[in-house]
Amino acid sequence: MKRRIPQYSELRELVQFKAFDPDRRRARLAKANTIADLRNTARRRVPTAAFEYVDGGSFAEHSLRRNRDAFDAVEFNPHVLRDVAAVDLRTTIAGAHAALPVGIAPTGLTRLMHAEGEVAGAQAAASFGIPFSLSTMGTVSIEEVAAEAPDADRWFQLYLWKDRPRSLELIRRAEAAGFGALVVTVDTPVSGARYRDTRNGMTLPPTLTAKTILDASYRPE
Ligand SMILES: Cc1cc2nc3c(=O)[nH]c(=O)nc-3n(C[C@H](O)[C@H](O)[C@H](O)COP(=O)(O)O)c2cc1C
Repeated sequence: MKRRIPQYSELRELVQFKAFDPDRRRARLAKANTIADLRNTARRRVPTAAFEYVDGGSFAEHSLRRNRDAFDAVEFNPHVLRDVAAVDLRTTIAGAHAALPVGIAPTGLTRLMHAEGEVAGAQAAASFGIPFSLSTMGTVSIEEVAAEAPDADRWFQLYLWKDRPRSLELIRRAEAAGFGALVVTVDTPVSGARYRDTRNGMTLPPTLTAKTILDASYRPE
């Protein structure tokens, strides 16, 4: 039997065509289905030094790989024939209500990845009803995060410095700005040997090369 080629008018009822979204950021995010997709977008759009700072681990990155393997080994245990009419993931974390059992962990130098940095993170956390942690090494001040995300459940992460009065001052500022929890990081008495960072000049102070500057120059956002 000879098959007739369908007409466009017949297809139009069955297929939806995606409209062009002039907001390219929204379009990029809409295309990302997984964290791996977001990582690929970040790899293209973020300066290499900043991408590798987030993506990399220390030494030969064995712990990083093992952490990822541990997450990959987690399995959900499906239950069938249950009443799923009202699914509720709400829980309590550190004494406060959270809409989901997750939160945003503290990350230092967040604005290296995106100019909106911690403010965007805190606002996203507020809109999803989950906690947001601001790092001691944050790139937006305690007070600004509070002002820009007043509804977020804000936590402050402390690296305890040898300069105890300055550490105490940070705690007091966080408390005064309405941060509801203190996260004390205890596993970083020294920083890791992060070879990708050394290669990219991500040292303290930074060791910039012409290549690093060129690589960042066309990714101003
Ligand atoms: C780029 C980056 C920066 C981080 N900066 C901090 C920090 O400033 N303070 C801190 O306590 N933990 C920091 N961490 C650790 C995270 O808060 C978190 O504990 C760790 O990444 C494990 O969580 P994950 O499995 O969700 O990545 C950082 C992690 C990354 C990847």
